[in-house]
Amino acid sequence: MKVALLHPGEMGVSVGAALLSCGNEVYYLPAGRSDATLARARGAGFAACSSLAELVAGVDMIVSICPPHAALALAEDVMAAQFTGVFVDANAISPASARLLHERVGVNFVDGAIIGPPATTAGSTRLYLAGERAAAVVDCFSTSVLDARVVAGGAGCASALKMCYAAYTKGTSALLLAVRALAAAEGVDSALLAEWDISQRDLRTRSAGAARGTARKAWRFVGEMEEIANTFNDQALPAGFHQAAGEIYRRMIGLQDAAEPTLEDVVTALNRD
Ligand SMILES: NC(=O)c1ccc[n+]([C@@H]2O[C@H](COP(=O)([O-])OP(=O)(O)OC[C@H]3O[C@@H](n4cnc5c(N)ncnc54)[C@H](OP(=O)(O)O)[C@@H]3O)[C@@H](O)[C@H]2O)c1
Repeated sequence: MKVALLHPGEMGVSVGAALLSCGNEVYYLPAGRSDATLARARGAGFAACSSLAELVAGVDMIVSICPPHAALALAEDVMAAQFTGVFVDANAISPASARLLHERVGVNFVDGAIIGPPATTAGSTRLYLAGERAAAVVDCFSTSVLDARVVAGGAGCASALKMCYAAYTKGTSALLLAVRALAAAEGVDSALLAEWDISQRDLRTRSAGAARGTARKAWRFVGEMEEIANTFNDQALPAGFHQAAGEIYRRMIGLQDAAEPTLEDVVTALNRD
C-alpha cells in the first residue's frame, strides 16, 4: 500500500515506521510543518510530497495523527482535495466526531484510536480500528511492532474506547495535579504527603509522575479533554470532570518547551492563573 501520514509527530512517525516495516510505502507532506516534524519524517525514510493534491492523487490510504483539536479540519482539507482512498483518523476525538467523519468520508472511513506510547517495542502500543475497512487496515500492520486490532460495533467505537481509556488516565492525572496545587496553596503540602505516605502510599510518586508525564503535552490534552467531556455529555453523563481537567491542562500550556518540568513547575503554573 502507498500510505500518507499526516503528520509525523512523535506518535505518527512510529506508526509510519511500523507501516514501512511491513513493506508499505510511506509519504508525508512537508508544507507548513516544523523542523522537528520534517527531521522525524526524513530520519524515518518517508517520501515527501510537494502538495496535498499530489499526495491525495498518489496514495491508497491516509492516516491522520495530529492534535485532537486539528483532526476535523485536517480531514476536511483531505476530502476537499478529492481523496477517494481509505482515510484513517487515529486521533483522540469523540465518537460523535468520528461518526461525523464517517458521514463525510463514507465507507472508506476508518475510525482509529491509539493506546500506549510511540510504538517502538512489540507489545507496548495498540491501534484500535473500527468501520467497514478496519480489517484491511489491520493487515497493513500485520508483521509490525504496532498491535492493530479491529473493534466491533462500527465507526465511532474505536474513538469511544479511547475516550473511556483516556478519561481515566488523563483525568486522574489532572485530579492529582489539582490536589497538589490546592495543598500548596493552602500550605498543607507537607502534611498531605505525610498522610499519603501512611494511607495512600503511591500518590506521592504518582502525582510527581503525572507532572513529568503531562507537562510538555498538556497543550494538546486540552482538546482531548473537551472531546471526552462532549462524549460524557452526549450520553447524559456529567461532563464537568473533564471540563475541569481541560482547564488544568490549559494552565500548563506554558510548560510545552520546558526541558525537564517538575511537579513544582506544574503547581506554580496551576496556582498562577
Ligand atoms: N504521543 C503519545 O504517546 C500518544 C499516545 C496515544 C495517542 N496519541 C495520539 O497521537 C496524536 C499525536 O500525538 P504525537 O505524540 O504524534 O504529537 P506531536 O509529537 O505533538 O505531533 C503532532 C503532529 O501534528 C502536527 N500538527 C500540529 N498542529 C497541527 C495542526 N493544527 N494541524 C495539523 N497537524 C498539526 C505536528 O506538526 P508540527 O511539528 O509542524 O507542529 C506534528 O507533526 C495525539 O493527538 C493522540 O491522539 C499519542
